[in-house]
Amino acid sequence: MAVPIRGGRGASNSGGFNLRSFFSHRIFISALFSLLFIATVSVIFTTNPSTPHHDSALPTTGIRRTFLSSNPLKIRLDLIYKQASDHITLVNAYAAYARKLKLEMSKKLKMFDDLAQNLSDIQTNPSYRGALFDSTSPLDEDVLRQFEKEVKDKVKTARMMIVESKENYDNQLKIQKLKDTVWFKMRPMERGAHIEIKAVGDFRFLNSSYVPLLKQQDLPSSENRGDKPKDTFVLNHVRFYLPDMFPKLKKIVFLEDDVVVQKDITGLWKIDLEGRVNGAVEICFGSFHRLGHYLNFSHPLIKEKLNPKACAWSFGMNVLDLDAWRSEKCTEEYNYWQNLNEDGSLWSGGPLPPGLITFYSKTNPLDRSWHVLGLGYNPSISMDAINKAAVIHYNGNMKPWLDIAMNQYKGFWTKYVDTEMEFVQMCNFGL
Ligand SMILES: *[C@@H]1O[C@H](CO)[C@@H](O)[C@H](O)[C@H]1NC(C)=O
Ligand SMILES: *[C@@H]1O[C@H](CO)[C@@H](O)[C@H](O)[C@H]1NC(C)=O
Ligand SMILES: *[C@@H]1O[C@H](CO)[C@@H](O)[C@H](O)[C@H]1NC(C)=O
Repeated sequence: MAVPIRGGRGASNSGGFNLRSFFSHRIFISALFSLLFIATVSVIFTTNPSTPHHDSALPTTGIRRTFLSSNPLKIRLDLIYKQASDHITLVNAYAAYARKLKLEMSKKLKMFDDLAQNLSDIQTNPSYRGALFDSTSPLDEDVLRQFEKEVKDKVKTARMMIVESKENYDNQLKIQKLKDTVWFKMRPMERGAHIEIKAVGDFRFLNSSYVPLLKQQDLPSSENRGDKPKDTFVLNHVRFYLPDMFPKLKKIVFLEDDVVVQKDITGLWKIDLEGRVNGAVEICFGSFHRLGHYLNFSHPLIKEKLNPKACAWSFGMNVLDLDAWRSEKCTEEYNYWQNLNEDGSLWSGGPLPPGLITFYSKTNPLDRSWHVLGLGYNPSISMDAINKAAVIHYNGNMKPWLDIAMNQYKGFWTKYVDTEMEFVQMCNFGL
């Protein structure tokens, strides 16, 4: 979705500030990476040589006590101490990382914190300090061995924890980066708009015991959907769970990701849906885009419930009355039909066919100037209609950001693209 902001492209008045915070955040992230990297490298470096005899050239910086480099026991002590210190740094870096990412992993976070503390406790343990660090007499090899064993145990735990967490952190970091910085922080909305970005994973009820589609995907029999990447498929259908996703909301305007909002759409809010659930523009003309085109009317259940000549409407820009939705139990209706369509015999394709069934006789037509469609496939849309539209929709394959875009429509999208934004440049739109 692209939403023009009053005053032209982006938030130019405050762009400087946001750019700065974006960069400082990036620096923070990359510093964190470097820190982890350096810590990891130094750990590998210090732990590889397991026999101290070859190590007289290793640096011994960072330790308060001065050692006689000729004493192998002291070199060994030095190395163990450093190994402990490096792992404290490493574990602390992971803990900070977990905190930064606000992971729902308070248990892991606590373990990292504990581990750093435990390592540091070993280092400062009075009996070790007395025998190994603060004494001028020769080192006791037994105490040193004990010290080494304790450190190595904790180091082993640290390594295991890091290996376990790494993948999780990498994925979380990517999501968080997108959430925190890249887009909306650089484009603060005017008039106090509140922005929240959610992932499907944030909604625990979207699981296979509640969502038929997810259950069907888990079954080997669902070959008819095998070619669809699971996430895209699910994202196409989460719209049917909006009242569950936003239990406190009574009404929403739903915009797909391939639309451009060209005008103020607050007027949509005042439209009377006459008690119906879904406000949408109709897309039929002549005999085209009637329900018969989208659903299998040879199937008795479809034939029984619907009129094949009824006009289809479109998703893309919809006003949805969530209270009416809840009382009409539309999600249950959708689940019911989705269960019936497990073998794909009622319809195939995206969310529109089940939408047409779910909101059948619960849809109120909107004036067509609210939502002009077809910019991704229809070469003959009137420019006048496009210019007057509140929302234009690039449904179809010829999206304006692709090489196959239709030139005559591309400009309506590109004029809002902030080509100076680094993130956008990475997308390689070829503008
Ligand atoms: C740290 O030490 C405490 C007390 O000895 C122990 O209960 C805890 O399991 C240790 N934590 C880790 C992560 O090793
Ligand atoms: C799946 O969703 C249902 C409600 O829709 C919920 O009761 C259940 O706890 C969820 N299962 C998991 C594993 O989150
Ligand atoms: C349409 O429904 C009929 C009756 O159930 C069925 O025989 C037919 O295979 C279905 N068509 C498709 C394309 O699935």
